[in-house]
Amino acid sequence: MYCTRQITEDITWIGGSDRRLARFENLFPLPHGVSYNAYVIMDEKTAILDTVDHAIAKQFMENVAHVLKGRALDYLIVNHMEPDHCASIGELLFQYPDMKIVGNQKTIQFLGQFFDADMSDRTIVVTEKERLALGKHTLQFVMAPMVHWPETMVTYELATGTLFSADAFGTFGALDGTIFHDELEQDTDWIVEARRYYTNIVGKYGVQVQTLLKKASSLEIKTICPLHGPIWREHLEEYMQLYDKWSRYEPEVQGVLIAYASMYGNTENAANVLAAGLADAGITKIAVRDVSVTDISYLIGEAFKYSHIVLAAPTYNGNIYAMMEHFIQDMQALNLQHRTFTLIENGTWAPMAGKQMMSMLETIKNTTILEHTISLKSTLKPSDEEGMEQVMKDIVKTLTC
Ligand code: FEO
Repeated sequence: MYCTRQITEDITWIGGSDRRLARFENLFPLPHGVSYNAYVIMDEKTAILDTVDHAIAKQFMENVAHVLKGRALDYLIVNHMEPDHCASIGELLFQYPDMKIVGNQKTIQFLGQFFDADMSDRTIVVTEKERLALGKHTLQFVMAPMVHWPETMVTYELATGTLFSADAFGTFGALDGTIFHDELEQDTDWIVEARRYYTNIVGKYGVQVQTLLKKASSLEIKTICPLHGPIWREHLEEYMQLYDKWSRYEPEVQGVLIAYASMYGNTENAANVLAAGLADAGITKIAVRDVSVTDISYLIGEAFKYSHIVLAAPTYNGNIYAMMEHFIQDMQALNLQHRTFTLIENGTWAPMAGKQMMSMLETIKNTTILEHTISLKSTLKPSDEEGMEQVMKDIVKTLTC
């Protein structure tokens, strides 16, 4: 049976959630599932904005049929061609023979790559700021390349001030009937999942997100309808400010992420001693994470959150312990900048991790590496206390809270 919700009199949410998928893009854990949002506008002409992943295609088609109530479907607006949103296009083409697919040149190129069929008589190519009138509602297309793929665009509906924002402003997590952010329990940790979604999926493309935010600032947006997670009709400014901060790679919090790797608990001990010392010094915004047991997508989310990052790792095969190396590589790949790093290495006979972490961090733009580092020989000892004290002082004096 259909499962839909009304956004305005003419705009309906026709998406759904998948609580079975283990990993988004087969990479990122989904402890709370994920939603795939799609929307329909009923007017003199009818239009659907994006489809859904194949996992919920049956629900989607029931929703479409329910809302259309026997009317023809005139347009499918494809804001994003990634399969989590385009997987049901074939079914719509088959069920609704009058339907035209609306997208930009790149969208149509990708459409042919994914569906391998000649659809030239069923496509309409649009460009920046072009409009499509549906009746009372008018759609305006705004190109948003690399937020998150090159064909991505967003669609602004003028009559209601609704921005169909594609992946932008999306969040991991299923929708539990409450599809609007203002319906969620206020103590939910949506921001953790919103940050984890943004930083891991779109984080690399801060410049392109800035371009989109600039374009969005000229629109009178009252509602944001993303392709994942809750719909926003309140506190839009706050969410936009977070996006602004994330895409400039500015930390949200003056605080310290201590990410450690530890084989037998000795490097972990150094991480804990440092955290306790910082707390003694009055720093309370501290997160201590074991890189071997914390999924890297959470580490990336927190790396974008905190101003300071301490990396503590043993040497392994003359190199950096693999999980830590992967974390640094991911920070490099996602273009993280403007962070202050401190290093702790460990090694029983030939500690090398510190030197190698340093050379990796030197390739990250706008990075500050604090003066003092710690090189442990197997365990933290009383003779390391002075070094630990210097590292703490370096951190405390560079925090601006
Ligand atoms: Fe939700 Fe880039 O796809």
